[in-house]
Amino acid sequence: MTSREIPDRNLGLDLARVTETAAMAAARWQGRGDKEAADQAAVDGMRAHLGTIDLDGVVVIGEGEKDEAPMLHNGEHVGSGHGQPVDVAVDPVDGTTLTANGMPGALAVLAVSERGTMFSPGSLVYMDKIAVGPVAAGMIDLEAPVERNLRRVAKAKGEDVNDLTVIILDRPRNQAYIDAVRAAGARIRLIRDGDVSAAIATARPDSGIDMLLGIGGSPEGVLAAAALRCMGGEIQARLWPRDESEVEYAAENGYDLKAIMETRDLVGGTNVSFAATGVTDGEFLRGVDFHGDGAVTHSVMMRSKTGSVRYMDAYHNLRRLRQVSAVDYG
Ligand code: FBP
Repeated sequence: MTSREIPDRNLGLDLARVTETAAMAAARWQGRGDKEAADQAAVDGMRAHLGTIDLDGVVVIGEGEKDEAPMLHNGEHVGSGHGQPVDVAVDPVDGTTLTANGMPGALAVLAVSERGTMFSPGSLVYMDKIAVGPVAAGMIDLEAPVERNLRRVAKAKGEDVNDLTVIILDRPRNQAYIDAVRAAGARIRLIRDGDVSAAIATARPDSGIDMLLGIGGSPEGVLAAAALRCMGGEIQARLWPRDESEVEYAAENGYDLKAIMETRDLVGGTNVSFAATGVTDGEFLRGVDFHGDGAVTHSVMMRSKTGSVRYMDAYHNLRRLRQVSAVDYG
């Protein structure tokens, strides 16, 4: 007999309230040239709200190890402590440099899934990644030549390779990918930062982006997997050590540097929730708009169990919030 448990509680609004607060705090630092301050403001905002959610959360993807990160460090317990035991992934600002420079595309991001279902990359900072949206899911192979992946994705989409656009973080370490995509005849969008949003773009039909390729942050890879679990896309990733010391770290801590991790290896579980709010204006989400005693935020909430994707605009009355809230809204 099939068990039907929907409708049930959707954490989306709870999570989006957290990312809204982080985004509003970080957005005050837009263009002020201080990425640490933007990040710290977002962390403080996120933490204040996380405590109000009925969750028994452990941070798996956080701001780093305990000694380096005073807040939202890996292993920290968050939430009220009551409710479902979950893993938590945070990126209070994906795009701290974008925020500091007033450039488009920074997001505040949060994901949760059942306890023990999120991959922890430890101190391994980078992953090699390939991601696509739902139409091309099942067609990619991180170990295959770029040209073959492009051909298979084009076929799945009923397009030619030269119709495809691949999004790539603009870094010297990704030059081989850039060359291979150019040789195959597809188009490229190079981005300065923000590969969570870039991975999500592969699954948004109106984005014009067909595939993400390249080496980017490991935490961002796990967060992208959470979003793609909800949207039906696919990501594959392999840890990418920067130097010999990271190779040794991997060996000592049981990480297989050859292993290809699939979407569900990065974020398993059946009930994955993801939320993000725009910090600076971007194609995916508009940034925070402040006016007088108010602010407007733009967020997305998704979950894997049902595949629902909701967009939400929120109008915040900062004058009232300053009277009643423990959060500093600036
Ligand atoms: P931050 O906001 O933490 O700086 O991350 C931005 C980002 O562009 C990520 O989206 C990406 O995965 C990572 O940095 C790439 O790392 P690096 O800037 O070291 O190449």
